[in-house]
Amino acid sequence: MSVPIVRTVRELRAAVAEWRREGSRVAVVPTMGALHEGHLSLVRAALGRTERVIVTLFVNPKQFNNAADLAAYPRTEHEDAAKLAPLGVQMLYAPDASEIYPEGFSTTVSVSGVSEGLCGAFRPGHFDGVATVVTKLFLQTGADFAFFGEKDFQQLHVVRRLARDLDIPIVIVACPTVREEDGLALSSRNVRLSPEERRAAPELARILFATAGRLTGGTPIGETLAQARRAILAAGFTEVEYLELRAEKDLASMEALDRPARLLAAAWLGATRLIDNVAVAPPRD
Ligand code: PAF
Repeated sequence: MSVPIVRTVRELRAAVAEWRREGSRVAVVPTMGALHEGHLSLVRAALGRTERVIVTLFVNPKQFNNAADLAAYPRTEHEDAAKLAPLGVQMLYAPDASEIYPEGFSTTVSVSGVSEGLCGAFRPGHFDGVATVVTKLFLQTGADFAFFGEKDFQQLHVVRRLARDLDIPIVIVACPTVREEDGLALSSRNVRLSPEERRAAPELARILFATAGRLTGGTPIGETLAQARRAILAAGFTEVEYLELRAEKDLASMEALDRPARLLAAAWLGATRLIDNVAVAPPRD
């Protein structure tokens, strides 16, 4: 069993038109490849919801703000296709770069508000790159549903907002973060960790969950976050880019934990940048 690989918008649209004639609904799972169990969980969720699932694989140069990071990004199409085949995915859309950014391409989709702060503050241009490619993938596939992981929580908000603002008729489905047994959130970047860093890495999730529990228990936000930041550094992380409490619904900053929230962090472990986030419930009265 193998997954049909499609490289052009023309072939993609012809296949989707055929599925539409059959009355099938279509889901898209956008990825940059190097598929792990987190991606596969999105694919399974999509297969549970629609008759036809397209996984896209495109390492999007516009969302990398560092040329070395782009060059080092794993490209494993053959292995990715082999992981998808047993799941029963109908198509792997791995477009040539010219299908996404044809010569003279000069349009940028830029989402303000939810893309500002957090990762947006440290990765200039990143969310413009994500928003632009995701818009293209939505319009090229014409899918009814798109599946995204909560691990990239800010990205999820950016995608929801662009679909709503541009009236793209697609339902965005959020799926929970998949974790290793020790709590580390799955990420294509985890393979870059040295054995020693890999041992320290789950501390980020452990501290986030513990901090979320303390906040729900009513501890003061500023002091609790300052302690958590110190704990992340003490665990061996070299830098904490951000550790912030934001509203779950719209990523607004929070002075008080008076509604469902997320605790979001980005931290460096040697040369690897890890991000994670956990839900924080408001205290019960
Ligand atoms: O989350 C990712 O892998 C990428 O940002 C996405 C959504 C596939 C866009 O390139």
